[in-house]
Amino acid sequence: MTLATLTAIPQDIVSFHDYERHARVHLDDNAWTYLSCGAADELTLHYNQRAFQHIGLRNRVLAEVTGGHTRMTLLGETHAHPIFLAPVAYQKLFHTDGECAAALGAAAIEAGMVLSSLASTELKTVASINPRLWFQLYLQRKREHTLTLVRRAEAAGCRALVVTVDAPITGVRNREQRIGFHLPPGVSAVNLSLLAETVLPQPLQAGQSVIFDQLMQGAPGWHDIEWLVGSTSLPVLLKGILTSEDASRAVDAGVAGIVVSNHGGRILDTVPATITVLPEVVEAVGGRVPVLIDGGIRRGSDVFKALALGASAVLIGRPYVYALATAGALGVAHLVRTLREELETTMVLCGCRTLSDIDQTRVSFN
Ligand code: FNR
Ligand code: LAC
Repeated sequence: MTLATLTAIPQDIVSFHDYERHARVHLDDNAWTYLSCGAADELTLHYNQRAFQHIGLRNRVLAEVTGGHTRMTLLGETHAHPIFLAPVAYQKLFHTDGECAAALGAAAIEAGMVLSSLASTELKTVASINPRLWFQLYLQRKREHTLTLVRRAEAAGCRALVVTVDAPITGVRNREQRIGFHLPPGVSAVNLSLLAETVLPQPLQAGQSVIFDQLMQGAPGWHDIEWLVGSTSLPVLLKGILTSEDASRAVDAGVAGIVVSNHGGRILDTVPATITVLPEVVEAVGGRVPVLIDGGIRRGSDVFKALALGASAVLIGRPYVYALATAGALGVAHLVRTLREELETTMVLCGCRTLSDIDQTRVSFN
């Protein structure tokens, strides 16, 4: 069943789980599957959420928290709170106003938003709604095409580029394949439409591999990151880092930040939960650049745990899209407000007045 989106938030929506349940009835099977699925057997998809459940909170009592707040500075800009919207492709699949509704909801609750390269709405339209947008970049096979996107993001006033590096090829998504996922008419990656590849892939010789010799032809490497950093005045963050080795390499390449991410378990199944590798990445980076994280963040206490383990901020993916599907911009703003209030409650009960008070002593592993 597909229902029209709500125009008021009913009393029974009080958490992420409620939005997930509501979203299911607002979306058809095609959109629901694309949004909710993970790669292969969806093990990493589940690890991401489950790993937070194995981290406990060490609550503290009678602490002085008057004047507390969730403000923070990131890449030279002040943010009201550390909850950002992760890049999610094709949002018109989930709501008629797609990315515009998400951007409006984010602006209302002062949440940073990262717009996907595969957005179904023009970058400049979304940027006019939310002036603090970051742009997620997939490096294009041709550098001139990448530069076209970068210049557009700069011209639209985007504040940072988030280069996603964990998906040079899409993982196998069994659930998506089973239902024959397709983009319906009217939903496409409009920002890439003028950059369509004109060159057909080389035909395969006998014994060659579709993956190595065709799909990975022209895939980006570290030298492309160094080139990009030198080609734009915007800060460049890398999204999709899961190891200390890659984190160190990224810092050497001159990035301004790292997003620990496994793409919400959508690309390579059985890579670890992001929260379990965050400490390794934070240690390798050693404070040289901020480290952000996404994957499985579903409640304010998860945000708290990520910050306790060294993240500067978090991104949420599916949660806000469930809210978008349920109640458009209003839903997005309400969901982020809910997470923020849960974070503030957790801070108070763990004796933290500001985000900088949230350190490793506030969590335990069980
Ligand atoms: C994504 N993600 C993603 N990432 C990216 O860099 N570019 C993209 O276009 C997309 N598209 C996309 C579509 C859908 C439907 C989902 C669910 C996810 C990954 C996203 O930015 C983020 O890493 C994860 O969603 C975080 O995990 P959670 O919060 O969904 O558990
Ligand atoms: C995905 C791609 C678009 O996760 O990043 O669906």
